[in-house]
Amino acid sequence: MKIFLDTANIDEIRQGARLGAVHGVTTNPSLAAKEGIGAASAYKAAVQEIADIIDGPISVEVVSTDVEGMISEGRDIAEWIPNPWVKLPSTTEGLEAMATLTRDNIKVNQTLCFSVNQALLGAHCGATAVSPFVGRLDDIGHDGMQLVRDIVEIFRQYNLKTEVLAASLRHPLHCIQAAKVGADIATMPFSVFGQMLKHPLTDAGQARFLQDWNKASK
Ligand code: E4P
Repeated sequence: MKIFLDTANIDEIRQGARLGAVHGVTTNPSLAAKEGIGAASAYKAAVQEIADIIDGPISVEVVSTDVEGMISEGRDIAEWIPNPWVKLPSTTEGLEAMATLTRDNIKVNQTLCFSVNQALLGAHCGATAVSPFVGRLDDIGHDGMQLVRDIVEIFRQYNLKTEVLAASLRHPLHCIQAAKVGADIATMPFSVFGQMLKHPLTDAGQARFLQDWNKASK
């Protein structure tokens, strides 16, 4: 399972890149707004900076709600960086735009996916990846990871090439579960990425090794 960072924060992306375990980045309008980005030109500049740091797919979301607007934004985004994935919502308009953009060989990440049927339709429209939103389903009392499991199973059964990108992950257990159910990619906030590595016994063990070494070397 590949690891993507779900952030538009350049410092977090730099820190993640230093660890060498980040294969891509997902952004969205909320994440951009959190970084004070409120104009297309600023979003473009931030995305270009991200692409200079991470040598992998960078997902950039459209903000238009009509098909023509999404297509024109998608074509524009496709020129920004070497490896863009245009994020389109799981709506009628999103899928119509997807069908056109994928015919132009533009890679698409189908976002805001909350059902297997949405994912199936996106795969048939040529989505490069589909993003089931685990945490948001959990938030309303559904089993978000079951959606990832079902999509993975059905895509494998029919040999569909669309990658399953587990999104809206909220804690390290989500990462383990996503890997167990066979997600191709997990995208997560930087805090969760940090939690993947953290273990109190590692910290205690390291402190103990150093303590013993210092005693012995006196
Ligand atoms: C995915 O691409 C989305 O940006 C993201 O995972 C949404 O997560 P949230 O539900 O925590 O906002």
